[in-house]
Amino acid sequence: MADGDFKLSNVQGDIIVGLSKKTEIFFFFRVVNGTAFRTQLKNLVPLITTADQATGERTAIRAFKAARAGGANGVDGQTTLGEITENAPLLSVVGVNIAFSQKGLIALGIQDDLKDPLFTAGQRGDAFDLADKGTGNTKENFKPDWDAAFLQEQQAIHGVVLVAGDSFESVNGKLEEVKAILSAKGTSSIAEVATLAGDVRPGEFKGHEHFGFLDGISQPALKGVDNVGGKKPLPGQSLVDLGVALLGRSGDTVKGRASWAKDGSFLAFRKLPQFVPEFDRFLEEKSKPISDDFDDAPTPADILGARMMGRWKSGAPLRITPFVDNPVLAADPQRNNKFKFNPKSQEMCPFSAHVRKMNPRKDLDQFATASIPDPVAPHMILRRGIPFGPEVTTEEKLTKSTRYERGLYFVSYQSNLSQGFSFLQKRWANEKTFPPQEPVEPGFDPIIGQAHDEVRVMTGANDDNTNEPLRLDRQWVQSKGGEYFFSPSIEALNHVLSSVAAP
Ligand code: HEM
Repeated sequence: MADGDFKLSNVQGDIIVGLSKKTEIFFFFRVVNGTAFRTQLKNLVPLITTADQATGERTAIRAFKAARAGGANGVDGQTTLGEITENAPLLSVVGVNIAFSQKGLIALGIQDDLKDPLFTAGQRGDAFDLADKGTGNTKENFKPDWDAAFLQEQQAIHGVVLVAGDSFESVNGKLEEVKAILSAKGTSSIAEVATLAGDVRPGEFKGHEHFGFLDGISQPALKGVDNVGGKKPLPGQSLVDLGVALLGRSGDTVKGRASWAKDGSFLAFRKLPQFVPEFDRFLEEKSKPISDDFDDAPTPADILGARMMGRWKSGAPLRITPFVDNPVLAADPQRNNKFKFNPKSQEMCPFSAHVRKMNPRKDLDQFATASIPDPVAPHMILRRGIPFGPEVTTEEKLTKSTRYERGLYFVSYQSNLSQGFSFLQKRWANEKTFPPQEPVEPGFDPIIGQAHDEVRVMTGANDDNTNEPLRLDRQWVQSKGGEYFFSPSIEALNHVLSSVAAP
């Protein structure tokens, strides 16, 4: 399949570049008037940020930052708006994307089968297999313990508008513009189901998720995008086929999809509250005292946390620096992802550590074949999530229990949900024998592994005895729901989804 006709301007910006975000609103809606929606969508398309524009915005942010820093900054490729807004003046950038659930496509009169059974069924249909918490012990009678917005049958979510930018004011202002377009001429074509908002964490925690670890370090590079025009992947970054992210491109192995689906991507959204004080209490109670006596020696709790994540809070990988954090290495994109795991050994990094479960690097080399030389590549996802909720309060720290909901609005893009998000959650995070054929059973991913909220176990937590199992007496991340969406190409938005008559 040739990708010569590929254009960044035909792809929504959050997919392969990522909208620049300090604040992001997810506006979940249902279509109440399909005909009006299709007409109004035509006027919304010019507001949709393409990957081309998102690239331009990132370049502008880097240039702005470099100018402010006297030219010495801004080549890290991970610029978030949070990095510049703290030292006003502000560079105002707002991006808009849109995606539809299967029920949403049907509401618009689109009957084409996108050939992804998980998308067709919706995330509610996948909740039992994802091992979410809930009641009922069969797939048929299972009711997940989700927020009501994601459980509605009659008022189901048809789509989501993602608006991301530098401040609540600019993002909210843009959302109002979107809503005005979708209610033009006195006809509102949509009804709100839920509005969720996330924020990059403040100050020194910028870029870190709520447990405290730097996020957004390791993302796959895409062939034809990240290795052309003088660009090349960062050291350690996997270079994968464009079709791992986009439908209808090289590497998308599903045949017979509707032609208009080309250059679109499936978006998996999950609301994942994190129980931070409880997580910290576990680290304090279960970590082993150490006798290390040197400057900057990590605390026992820091060591256990790092072994569960596979990286220190700074982002430095355990595989490179297993005994002590190295913030300088963590901040260097030329070095912070340049590692492979040592198959069969979990002394430096547990088999079950979150980053090892999610990207086992060399662990799966034994399963390489001529047609799939890198067995991890088909399962790579583009992560675009954002934290939500307030910082942990003093009272929560004192009582060691969560009072205010906080966590991660997880967003990933992939061309195939059963190879991407859903596969990673079920077959790797939740599978205690993965990575396979190790000398000792790895256990669950301690960060995101799920077993319907049952007790889980991992090995490798104790670096003095890596065979020793550690009982994880609760989950510190619990899914409160989500949905699977399809994020169409600009051409599809313009010519198929917004044409006046249903195709
Ligand atoms: C609240 C839940 C989660 C937290 C706190 C979390 C945290 C992190 C952190 C700190 C990293 C390391 C930084 C980086 O490489 O970017 C990471 C990496 C990653 N996470 Fe998560 N994550 C969560 C949920 C998920 C979920 C649900 C999935 C997919 C099922 C996932 C997939 C990944 C992947 C693929 C990587 C990159 C691994 C690599 O290439 O080395 N994460 N996560």
